[in-house]
Amino acid sequence: MNFDKREERLGTQSVKWDKAGELFGVTDALPMWVADMDFRAPEAITEALKVRLDHGIFGYTAPDQKTKDAVCGWMQNRHGWKVNPESITFSPGVVTALGMAVQAFTEPEDQVVVQPPVYTPFYHMIEKNGRRILHNPLQKKDGTYAMDFEDLETKLSDPSVKLFILCNPHNPSGRSWGREDLLKLGELCLEHGVTVVSDEIHSDLMLYGHKHTPFASLSDDFAEISVTCAAPSKTFNIAGLQASAIIIPDRLKRAKFSASLQRNGLGGLNAFAVTAIEAAYSKGGPWLDELISYLEKNMNEAEAFLSTELPKVKMMKPDASYLIWLDFSAYGLSDAELQQRMLKKGKVILEPGTKYGPGGEGFMRLNAGCSLATLQDGLRRIKAALA
Ligand SMILES: Cc1ncc(COP(=O)(O)O)c(C=O)c1O
Repeated sequence: MNFDKREERLGTQSVKWDKAGELFGVTDALPMWVADMDFRAPEAITEALKVRLDHGIFGYTAPDQKTKDAVCGWMQNRHGWKVNPESITFSPGVVTALGMAVQAFTEPEDQVVVQPPVYTPFYHMIEKNGRRILHNPLQKKDGTYAMDFEDLETKLSDPSVKLFILCNPHNPSGRSWGREDLLKLGELCLEHGVTVVSDEIHSDLMLYGHKHTPFASLSDDFAEISVTCAAPSKTFNIAGLQASAIIIPDRLKRAKFSASLQRNGLGGLNAFAVTAIEAAYSKGGPWLDELISYLEKNMNEAEAFLSTELPKVKMMKPDASYLIWLDFSAYGLSDAELQQRMLKKGKVILEPGTKYGPGGEGFMRLNAGCSLATLQDGLRRIKAALA
């Protein structure tokens, strides 16, 4: 796959490219915000979709044993995690699944713990469902984030806390949580009877040889309190197809989750989503390996550029994903001013850090899921914005 090729995305109703003008009020800025990539999906997926398309009949479609086997095969091969096919349910998106989990495992006014700064829809899915957010803020340590277990224990001891939403690997920083952290947090959640939703949507995009640890893989006890959200959408750049696999080993929890889906009329998946999941998870491995090498080069390029051209900008080098969390606080600009400078002076669109909740102040998130030339263009624009 030629990841250097610049693909035209304007005019495809792309949120990242076509909605930017409406949302940010600029029409000539390079979009490096929403988390999808500017690469074509692997041929293994597009070819499977063509065959499906050529059939010409798109009636109601449901994932079946074959789909589940593809998910299990992927988890085993890629993450060394043996998943029981019975534990798999499907949801159009991971965000949808987060909402379903909030509805299934909490009551109105219950509290849900999240670790800011974190992916914005975590907050939306809690609040829009009439539940309350409880923050267990991540701590900056040695140029990355660390969990604050003392604070977590206090927060989990509150009897109104029923759910913990973990982001592993973490968006926006790309931090991958290791065994030790996961063991500590799992023990605390077990002790306090709190269900863990582990959003592992970025877990296939492990860089520099880092290994992903699925939370549920650590013990049977953890598996019993877990809801793992996996998806080929970030991995293979098929977010617009809306396909995710939700792994819930406990039968009762799975039934509650499925009841939530049904209550919201979310019975199946669209025909293309089913085909895409199967093709991605059964044939996408070699493409993903190539992608990961390319993303590592992009990350190295960003790191080198920033250290020589913009040393005041601190980059949290990701363990996973194509996202880069950048700390601009040394410039002493307000978040609004930083954003305006990027948009109007640099002509580049980054995600403002404040979107990710407390701890995001002074940061912006750069999407490096693009060709090296586009990334270099974006970095030069960031430099111009700060000049
Ligand atoms: C942590 C996390 N969860 C979920 C999503 C979106 O998932 P979906 O498109 O399947 O709803 C994203 C997208 O950026 C994400 O970063």
